Amino acid sequence: MCTDSLTAVLVWSHRVGSGTMSDLAPNHHAEFKQFGGVFGFLAALTMIPGRGRDARLAIDLAGLGEDDRVLDIGCGPGSAVRLAADLCSRATGLDPAEPMLSVARMLTRLRRPSGEIEWVCAGAEDMPLADESVSVVWSIRSVHHWPDLAGGIGEVRRVLAPDGRLVVVESRSKPGATGLSSHGWTDPQADSFAAMLVDAGFSTPVVTTHDSGRSGSISVSATI
Ligand SMILES: C[S@@+](CC[C@H](N)C(=O)[O-])C[C@H]1O[C@@H](n2cnc3c(N)ncnc32)[C@H](O)[C@@H]1O
Repeated sequence: MCTDSLTAVLVWSHRVGSGTMSDLAPNHHAEFKQFGGVFGFLAALTMIPGRGRDARLAIDLAGLGEDDRVLDIGCGPGSAVRLAADLCSRATGLDPAEPMLSVARMLTRLRRPSGEIEWVCAGAEDMPLADESVSVVWSIRSVHHWPDLAGGIGEVRRVLAPDGRLVVVESRSKPGATGLSSHGWTDPQADSFAAMLVDAGFSTPVVTTHDSGRSGSISVSATI
């Protein structure tokens, strides 16, 4: 199937799966249920090309070093996890959709990053990881899908070691965007997520817009 056909299928599935939420909700696509089964596998294939830019952005914003232990929540087919594994001591890719992890494992066997990678099938709100077991958590284009944001943020706090860093990267959406263009954050949605981090005890989140790419990205970085 060509990329345009894949995109058309996913646009259709988005329309079927989208819900209605507040304009400010940072998880406004929590109702989207299309990452499992055949759709999940097709979606994973669309997420292989062009993902290096956001992965490098997360690496830069986190200031990733060789001693870091990284957790990528909502890793999809795992581009950012493989890049991290080339740079730091240990990388974990976590995603609740098994088709995403199947594609991630397959690509990892082909590309053979130098560091150790663990793949975990779970959602952000219930992670089977030890307390304070990672120094960096990032999540790329995923938080807008988390059904339980407060639960997910609480879990991020629990698994982060003291002085741990959190970086969230989303596509930057225009207010009123529909379809695939709405899969990201408007500036107020990013601000709203930053406020949730403050409520959860994170220190001074920084919201930054990045101009690269078609629509650009928006990030929220914070430490505990
Ligand atoms: C648009 S994809 C992004 C994948 C990858 N980070 C990338 O940029 O290529 C969103 C991912 O978030 C995952 N996801 C959805 N709900 C989640 C949740 N509650 N916790 C963690 N990940 C979730 C999906 O399974 C999917 O792989």
